[in-house]
Amino acid sequence: MSKIISPSLLSADFGNLKAACEMINASEAEWLHLDVMDGSFVPNISFGFPVIEAVKKHCIKPLDVHLMIVHPEKYIQRFAKAGAAILTFHYETVENPLEVIEKIKSEGIKVGITINPDMPVSVLEEYVDKVDLVLLMTVFAGYGGQKFIEESYTRIDELKEIIKRKNAHCLIEVDGGINLQNALKLFDRGVNVLVAGNAVFKTSNPIETIHSMLNT
Ligand code: DX5
Ligand code: ZN
Repeated sequence: MSKIISPSLLSADFGNLKAACEMINASEAEWLHLDVMDGSFVPNISFGFPVIEAVKKHCIKPLDVHLMIVHPEKYIQRFAKAGAAILTFHYETVENPLEVIEKIKSEGIKVGITINPDMPVSVLEEYVDKVDLVLLMTVFAGYGGQKFIEESYTRIDELKEIIKRKNAHCLIEVDGGINLQNALKLFDRGVNVLVAGNAVFKTSNPIETIHSMLNT
């Protein structure tokens, strides 16, 4: 089973993104997570294309782009061009998820679908066999540094059951409140990808923290 850490750049020092990329390059993190927020789907605004393009120049790891925006379908090609290797959209933001999935795939990149903690996991049933990953939010999308919602473990079990029943092969990613205390438990539960913002970037030795998340 793959065990991937995808540190979230949202918690990095925005005055020195090149250094953050160099840290990621030197670490055991396999992906870099980029949170795009529009102030509409979520009550926060982060960054967009120019920042992703700049990060792409310095980061050798695949860019795992998490869209928290309305009408993600309008910008798929631009995110692909900017350097996204994986593009994940919120189920809540689109009218026709299947169309969006196909549009992302047609760019030759990987596709993910995600839901907030108040959306039943069962809505994903139709999509698990058509996407590369399902991202279960373990906090409400919008801000870094929130507390992990404990009910997420049951939701992970539910998702695993659906994936098995549909004989699908998508990865399970979780995002929000992941730290050294719950990383191992989440991997053991069957999660493949852990997003971690504060737990990585706000520690004195992020490279060591990433290593510990994979090895505790
Ligand atoms: C929240 C974002 C997360 C965030 C995670 O909406 O999707 O990726 O950066 O931050 P932490 O790991 O600090 O909870
Ligand atoms: Zn995210």
